[in-house]
Amino acid sequence: MRARGEAEGASRAKSQFLASMSHELRTPLNAIIGFSEILERELFGQLGEERYRDYARLIHESGEHLLGVVNGILDMSKIEAGKFTIVREPFGVGALVESCCEIMRHTAETKGLTLTTEVAADLPELAADKRACKQMLLNVISNAVKFTETGGWVKVAASVENGNVVFAVSDNGIGIAEKDLPRLGNPFVQAASSYDRSYEGAGLGLSVVRGLAQLHGGSLELDSTLGQGTTVRIVLPLDAGEDPAASGARAAAA
Ligand SMILES: Nc1ncnc2c1ncn2[C@@H]1O[C@H](COP(=O)(O)OP(=O)(O)OP(=O)(O)O)[C@@H](O)[C@H]1O
Ligand SMILES: [Mg+2]
Repeated sequence: MRARGEAEGASRAKSQFLASMSHELRTPLNAIIGFSEILERELFGQLGEERYRDYARLIHESGEHLLGVVNGILDMSKIEAGKFTIVREPFGVGALVESCCEIMRHTAETKGLTLTTEVAADLPELAADKRACKQMLLNVISNAVKFTETGGWVKVAASVENGNVVFAVSDNGIGIAEKDLPRLGNPFVQAASSYDRSYEGAGLGLSVVRGLAQLHGGSLELDSTLGQGTTVRIVLPLDAGEDPAASGARAAAA
């Protein structure tokens, strides 16, 4: 009993530490990103030397990358500490899918990928945290785009199955080996197939998706074949009710 109390205390301390560290890191990062962008665009005058513009661009890109990692850590630590409160509001599922695909379309097309949507016509509104749903979809779509080679396709579908709204993002990309599947969705875990070919990323996206889905009383499901493609499903109950995960999080946050 005592050991368990100590372990929980340590885990809370870790989450607290990560949350405050992430906050401290974000403030200077915003200055780095903002000012390097001004330099890169030469808003107040020419830099003169080509290499200076390259360096400004690199600082800007690295800053954006680091901010993504820090945001992932912050979200994960909030979810683990039970401090991520979801706020439900009804919204149209189709419009959300379209807006997420709009955001990803440029990256997909630049990479030579076909990005399509398939949204059932008669979907009811979903009462969920809209920002969280957008983040879940963007994380999963950006994975599909990242892990699919030029010429491939990514399909984003939404439907209702057994009282759940199901977002299914499929691709014909590099796929995931069966032995790697069970571990994915835990922080910092990446599959060997992506690791070998060194794709960008910290391995946080899916764990954030899983945490946010669970806060809605839902789940994350992965189905993949190495070398053939992947389908990631986000399953969210339509009847929100008072799901235990969300009320637990509220109780812990209170
Ligand atoms: N569509 C996919 N196809 C192939 N592998 C995938 C796909 N989605 C996820 N993976 C595997 O799951 C791992 C974890 O995904 P996750 O989104 O958590 O991390 P990441 O994309 O590597 O980094 P981050 O999202 O933090 O930038 C990936 O590194 C990759 O190995
Ligand atoms: Mg990712």
